[in-house]
Amino acid sequence: MSEPFAWEIVVRVQRDSSSLPLAGRRALITGGAAGIGEATARRFAADGASVVVMDTTAPAAEIARDSRHLIADVTDPVQVAEAVREAAGDGGLDVCVANAGVSSMEGFLAGTSTSWEQVLRVNLLGVMITLQAAAKAMVDAGRGGRLLVTASIAGLHGEPGSSAYCASKAGVIGLVKTLAVELAPWSITANAVAPGQIDTAMNTRDLETAGRKSGRPAAALLREHLRLRVPAGRRGTPDEVASLFAFLASDEAAFINGEVLRIDGGELAS
Ligand SMILES: NC(=O)c1ccc[n+]([C@@H]2O[C@H](COP(=O)([O-])OP(=O)(O)OC[C@H]3O[C@@H](n4cnc5c(N)ncnc54)[C@H](O)[C@@H]3O)[C@@H](O)[C@H]2O)c1
Repeated sequence: MSEPFAWEIVVRVQRDSSSLPLAGRRALITGGAAGIGEATARRFAADGASVVVMDTTAPAAEIARDSRHLIADVTDPVQVAEAVREAAGDGGLDVCVANAGVSSMEGFLAGTSTSWEQVLRVNLLGVMITLQAAAKAMVDAGRGGRLLVTASIAGLHGEPGSSAYCASKAGVIGLVKTLAVELAPWSITANAVAPGQIDTAMNTRDLETAGRKSGRPAAALLREHLRLRVPAGRRGTPDEVASLFAFLASDEAAFINGEVLRIDGGELAS
């Protein structure tokens, strides 16, 4: 009795893995060594995708058994083209998540063209370089694709002391909306996710910077922000953002195009 039962389980697991939501999809995720990008890479791999992560640093641990990572910079078109080739392999690229980003907390009056250029180079030009290389690969393969970007609620409202960052995130939202229309003839969709406060190293670093500037403990600033501004009363997790990207990469989201989806615990709802 026990042998057929075990065999039945193996067959069921094999059938299940081929019916995973992202089975057979090839994905590239930039900034995938940490935070939101890393969680997204893990989720895509768990959902059956073949994942290549590119980042200027290596992930602390292996993302998933079949995943690969490349040390590369999104501001370098040659390195990005190589990452797209690696992710596409012989089968073509299906999904690209342009997620790599840097934060900047600098008052507008203190900013310089140099400090702005550092932020825009990664957060806006880096996204353009990534999405263009990915879109070209998708057009060449001729079977459509999904372009996804990590924007921010900072691109949807004003955040005092973060003008360069806000401008960069508003910029990628404009880019996504344009690509949604321009690339639709090739069945390529483009969507952005706009997170609020997500518990990552970047968010924690920003809180510490704000704490130093205001002379108050970072933990107190966070508690106050969550109490006054975030109806959910907590930071989001990288896994919650990864779930949204997994949905947008799946067949379920085929008719969503040019959208900006907030994931902020209600922060911009009020
Ligand atoms: N954490 C938040 O609260 C939050 C909120 C809104 C938007 N975002 C956005 O989410 C994205 C991911 O941020 P996170 O919070 O996971 O931060 P993170 O710092 O944990 O991860 C960002 C990753 O991007 C990589 N990276 C930076 N510059 C790069 C470059 N030039 N080329 C390749 N990789 C590069 C970093 O090495 C890092 O691994 C960013 O675009 C950020 O602006 C974050």
